[in-house]
Amino acid sequence: MTFDLILRGGTCVSHRGIVPADIGVRAGRIAEIGGLSTAGADQVIDVTGLHIFPGMIDTQVHFREPGMEEKEDLESGSRAAVLGGVTAVFEMPNTRPTTTDPDALADKVRRATNRMWCDFGFYFGASPENAGMLGEWERLPGCCGVKVFMGSSTGDLLLDDEDDLRRVLASGARRIAVHAEDEARLKERKALAKDSAHTHPDWRDEETALRATKRLVRLASEAGRRVHVLHVTTAQEMAFLADHKDVASVEVTPQHLTLAAPDCYDALGTRAQMNPPIRDATHRDALWRAVSAGVVDVIGSDHAPHTLEDKARPYPLSPAGMPGVQTIVPIMLDHVAQGRLTLLQVHDLLCAGPARLFGLMGKGRLAAGYDADFTVVDLAARRTITDSMIASKCGWTPYDGMEVTGWPVMTVVRGALVMRDGELSGGAAGGQALRFWEGRPA
Ligand code: DOR
Repeated sequence: MTFDLILRGGTCVSHRGIVPADIGVRAGRIAEIGGLSTAGADQVIDVTGLHIFPGMIDTQVHFREPGMEEKEDLESGSRAAVLGGVTAVFEMPNTRPTTTDPDALADKVRRATNRMWCDFGFYFGASPENAGMLGEWERLPGCCGVKVFMGSSTGDLLLDDEDDLRRVLASGARRIAVHAEDEARLKERKALAKDSAHTHPDWRDEETALRATKRLVRLASEAGRRVHVLHVTTAQEMAFLADHKDVASVEVTPQHLTLAAPDCYDALGTRAQMNPPIRDATHRDALWRAVSAGVVDVIGSDHAPHTLEDKARPYPLSPAGMPGVQTIVPIMLDHVAQGRLTLLQVHDLLCAGPARLFGLMGKGRLAAGYDADFTVVDLAARRTITDSMIASKCGWTPYDGMEVTGWPVMTVVRGALVMRDGELSGGAAGGQALRFWEGRPA
């Protein structure tokens, strides 16, 4: 029996635990896992000493196309993704124009197909105008779900009125992803944003986040609708969300698990500014406890590639957000090396978790029949993250100069080796729309 590709000699991180096994691939899918030392293949890659995960999925990125291509585009963002070991992304709707109707979604799918390096899903942005239509649209090919901004962030998407929220929750059935900050409180407190990014967490304080999260969970429970609370940042929200796992899933970002105020603002100034903000170490510790306890379902990067020129504007005119799709895997592997989480938790948070939460077909599992998406990592590699290695157009990272242990060395998307040792492997980009159990086929 021959294969198109065999990864030979590696250690698989999977639902079975951490076990040595070869993987045979045929027609873009996993055909066999086990001892394949005598099997033939068109391509055999020796992965001795390396660990193989199901392809890592970043469920929150902003790649800014259409309309903002000078800052980032679907090709450059996805190139950063695969260079960082990410095989699929969910991309956000706060583009220009916003992704708020089927034409805009179809346009993005067209632009992305065979131009992005990884697979992709696109969010619909909820607005007061489209609230009643989303149930029909959320099943369109290439759509990963609906995104709600309860508080203003980058761009004009906003849905803060309770009746509008009820209409969104009543229309459709898929999990809705939500940016939970309370808009009224943000407006009231804007004057607390003084002339330094240090004041960003004072303006957008814990209560701002908690209030929105509580309102969201109340309305979602009333509507009987699943929601996904993006980038949770506070101890108070984690305590509350631990009691509401029947309705709400939880994301945290690597940056909220890694950076803390005030040091990040001392060192990085407005580069550390994002929404919701990086807070002090007591919150960071609470986020880690929530990861350990299993309250956190997925890690997403919230990759928001603002240019250094834009970031240099005086706070609070500087935009919020930082790049992260290329560093999500190395940063989380470094946390493994530091003993803060296990390889199986990484598998849960970046592979199986996204597939389970969002009903992804054929992804997130090392098993025969699943897509042959792999993130191959060298747990012993020590590398220094630098601005110069960032493929995003913004060309910087909040982790510039940080030495980490653990590094993605190969990215395989549906059987195609896309990245090896930090370089694209020479083939054409082959990104395809992700498929969802609750979506319609393309
Ligand atoms: O800091 C952020 N930047 N938070 C968001 O929710 C949006 C993002 C962006 O789009 O720039």
